[in-house]
Amino acid sequence: MKLGTLFLENNLILAPMLQVSTAPFRLFCRKFGNIGLVSVPMLYTKRIETHSRTVLRFLHKIEEERPVSVQLIGSDLDALKSSIDFLESYSFDVLDINAGCPSRRAIKAKEGGYLLKNLDELETLLKTSIKYSSRPVSLKMRTGFNNTNNIERIADIVNRSGIDFLTIHGRTVKGRYLDSTLDLNTIKKIKSLVKIPVVGNGNIEGGLTAEKFLEITNVDALMVGRASMGNPEIFQQINQYLTKGIESNLENSFFKVRKYFKLYEECVDEYLDDIIDMPFSHEKFKFMELRRNAIWFIKNIQDSISLRTQISKTKSLEELHQIINSLN
Ligand SMILES: Cc1cc2nc3c(=O)[nH]c(=O)nc-3n(C[C@H](O)[C@H](O)[C@H](O)COP(=O)(O)O)c2cc1C
Repeated sequence: MKLGTLFLENNLILAPMLQVSTAPFRLFCRKFGNIGLVSVPMLYTKRIETHSRTVLRFLHKIEEERPVSVQLIGSDLDALKSSIDFLESYSFDVLDINAGCPSRRAIKAKEGGYLLKNLDELETLLKTSIKYSSRPVSLKMRTGFNNTNNIERIADIVNRSGIDFLTIHGRTVKGRYLDSTLDLNTIKKIKSLVKIPVVGNGNIEGGLTAEKFLEITNVDALMVGRASMGNPEIFQQINQYLTKGIESNLENSFFKVRKYFKLYEECVDEYLDDIIDMPFSHEKFKFMELRRNAIWFIKNIQDSISLRTQISKTKSLEELHQIINSLN
C-alpha cells in the first residue's frame, strides 16, 4: 500500500512506545511476519541538541529495520533543527513529530500534546521540519487538548503543512488512556477534512476491532500499540483477518511463553551485538528488556498473578531463566 510517498507491505504500523517498542522489540515483532512500518519511540530534541551521545543507542542499526519511522518531541526550533541535522546521517524512512504525549513532563515543557493547545507553534514546527528534513515528515497527534473543538483548525494546518501523512490517536490529551474516552467519530471527521492519508490509532486489539475501526473511520492504515505487548503476532493476526477473514486462536501456553522468551533473548543479543563505546550497561539492559517482556508474555495465562509477582521480583537474568525454564 502507499502511505504518502512510502510503499508499505501492509497497512499496519507498530506504534512508538517509550520503553516498549525498543529495537529488540521491533525486531521480535517482525520475526513473525511483515509489519508495514515500525516506529522508534520519541527522542527529545533538547537531549539530542545537548547530549547527542546518549541517544546513539536508540538509533543503533535502524538502517536494518526499514521501513522505520523516527519520532521527535520538543518545541524549541533550534533544537529541532539540530536534531534533524543530527539524524541526517542515519537511514530511515519517516520523520514523525509528536503532538500527542500527555505526560506531565511534556505539558510542562510545552511540547507533545501541549502543541494542540498552541496551534501556531505546531504549524511553525511542522513548517520547520518540512524545510530542514530530507525525509518525508508525518505528525502523530490526538483529537485535541481538552476537547475536539479545534479539529477543523488542525485539519487546515495539516493541509497547509506539506506533511506526508497524519497519525491520530482517538483521544484528547486530557483523555489520557481511559477506555471511555476513545472517540472514533473525530478520527472519521479529520479523515474527511484532510487531503493526505490518515493512520488511525487507539485500542486496536485484534481483527475485529481493526475491522470496526476501518469501517467507522475510513482511515488508510492502522497503528497498534499496547496490544503488541506480549503478543508479537498481533500484526499477522489482524492482517489475516482483514485480508482472508481468518480469526486467530489467541491461546497462550507456557510452551509459547518459553518460545517467545527464547526468541526475545536472541533479538536482544542481535541488537547488542557490536554496540561498543556507548554509555549503558548491556547486562542491565538485557535483563530489564527480558523481565519486562516476560511479564507481558504471561498476561493471558490463567491464574498467573503469583507468577507475575515472582518474575517482577527477580534481580538477575539467571533467576529469570530459572523461572522461565521451570514453566510447563
Ligand atoms: C508505555 C507507552 C509509551 C508510549 N510512548 C509513546 C511515544 O514515545 N510516542 C508517541 O507518539 N506515543 C507514545 N505512546 C502512545 C502510543 O503510541 C499509542 O498512541 C497509544 O498507546 C494508543 O494506542 P493503543 O491503544 O494501540 O495502545 C506510548 C504509549 C504507551 C502505553
